[in-house]
Amino acid sequence: MSLIMKQASAQDSLKPIVALAKRRGFIYPGSELYGGFANTYSFGPYGVELKKNIKDLWWKTFIQERRDMVGLDGPILLHPKTWQASGHMEGFNDALIDCKACKARFRCDHLIEEALGLDADGMALEKMTALVNEKKVKCPKCGAEDFTDARNFNLMFSTHMSKTGHEGDAAYLRPETAQAIFLDFKNVLDTMRVKIPFGIGQIGKAFRNEITPGNFIFRVIEFEQMEIEYFIREKDWEELFKQWLASMHDWCDLIGLKKSRIHEKEHEKEKLSHYSKRTVDLVYDFPFGTSELYGLAYRTDFDLKRHAEHSGYPIECLDLDTKEKYTPHVLEPTFGVERTLLALLCDAYEEEQLENGEMRTVMHFSPRIAPVKAAIFPLMKKEPLTEKAKSIFDSLKNLWNCEYDESGAIGKRYRRQDELGTPFCITVDFDTLEDDTVTLRDRDSMQQERVPANQLIEILNKKLY
Ligand code: GAP
Repeated sequence: MSLIMKQASAQDSLKPIVALAKRRGFIYPGSELYGGFANTYSFGPYGVELKKNIKDLWWKTFIQERRDMVGLDGPILLHPKTWQASGHMEGFNDALIDCKACKARFRCDHLIEEALGLDADGMALEKMTALVNEKKVKCPKCGAEDFTDARNFNLMFSTHMSKTGHEGDAAYLRPETAQAIFLDFKNVLDTMRVKIPFGIGQIGKAFRNEITPGNFIFRVIEFEQMEIEYFIREKDWEELFKQWLASMHDWCDLIGLKKSRIHEKEHEKEKLSHYSKRTVDLVYDFPFGTSELYGLAYRTDFDLKRHAEHSGYPIECLDLDTKEKYTPHVLEPTFGVERTLLALLCDAYEEEQLENGEMRTVMHFSPRIAPVKAAIFPLMKKEPLTEKAKSIFDSLKNLWNCEYDESGAIGKRYRRQDELGTPFCITVDFDTLEDDTVTLRDRDSMQQERVPANQLIEILNKKLY
């Protein structure tokens, strides 16, 4: 299958999810009004709730509930020297190649992999160019055999800090949140009561000018990372690496991803990033193939040492027993917010055939991260049913994101909430007016039980967590 055909079939495999995401207000294409803007997306009213739930749960799990972790919110624009020290200026590149005939642009390693079945990841530019020419690789778009030389393209977005626009004023939007943490490591050490081993966590935007095959929000140019830099003694790295890998699997469980769809992928030694001595990815079985969800890297003391060299300031800790100074080593568990969201959408999506022959689309989100926790309906749009339903909505809305819906047939209202992944629907009917009970419908089983209206908070509290 050609590269273009592969890309098209990957997009097809995501089609139902992309359609639901747009139809139900989770994710819209970026700048659609102007015909779109490649690889950018807006998160609609339910998408933003889902994202917020993911980030809040991550923060609670990894920062608030651990005594060895603190949080940080560093700037997107860091001193330009940061990127020289980190190696991004020199080495954060993709190899690109253009078709001279139709001007289509490709990642050269992907082009070679698809056309020749060779692994070209990390191959020298000259070798790639020679291979494309010698083997007469055809442009997947127009069929021509006329390519430019392969060349490096730095993935960092640049901007200017002053109005003059001189080259010297260039600044870069951070391509990873990690560096903001390294820059403030000493501040945290000096101002907080922390002791090695401890970690600093951050959630924030990162930017990469990537050429992408268009797998929806899998690879975008603007995305959010939830990253931890965990500072350790060198001797402890193997044991703590194991512990962090286990914690990352626990996180996947917590958000409700199916265990069977998550696997570990060890990076080959020769292909490790310049800073890493060992990296293991957690990969997920996406509909378009098994691909990276998260990563765990042992970054050694590379970053802190480089920043000390480039800034001229030592970044060290004191060993209280030996009184010796040392540079801590670092483990980095990293989690992409958009990839989490995409995995959750793929994992939760089901087109279910019901016993009566009807189909329903249902999102089986874990109640912990579902964008709407409960929807409250009066059986009919009629007083005093509506008044009672509104008063129940008012009593729950301060605790959870809930919806009130009074329009349309009750069956249609249930289906609508099923598509949003709302775990519970509460219906006020004529019996409610007699005995103050309501029906509580479970999204997955569609079973309904009658419960006292005044016990809803207690019941939901148990069922939602
Ligand atoms: N600080 C290490 C680092 O940035 P990475 O593997 O390049 O490592 C970390 O990125 C995580 O960020 C990935 O595991 C993925 O979840 C997410 N990510 C990376 N590039 C992305 C992109 N272009 N679009 C969406 N998410 C991305």
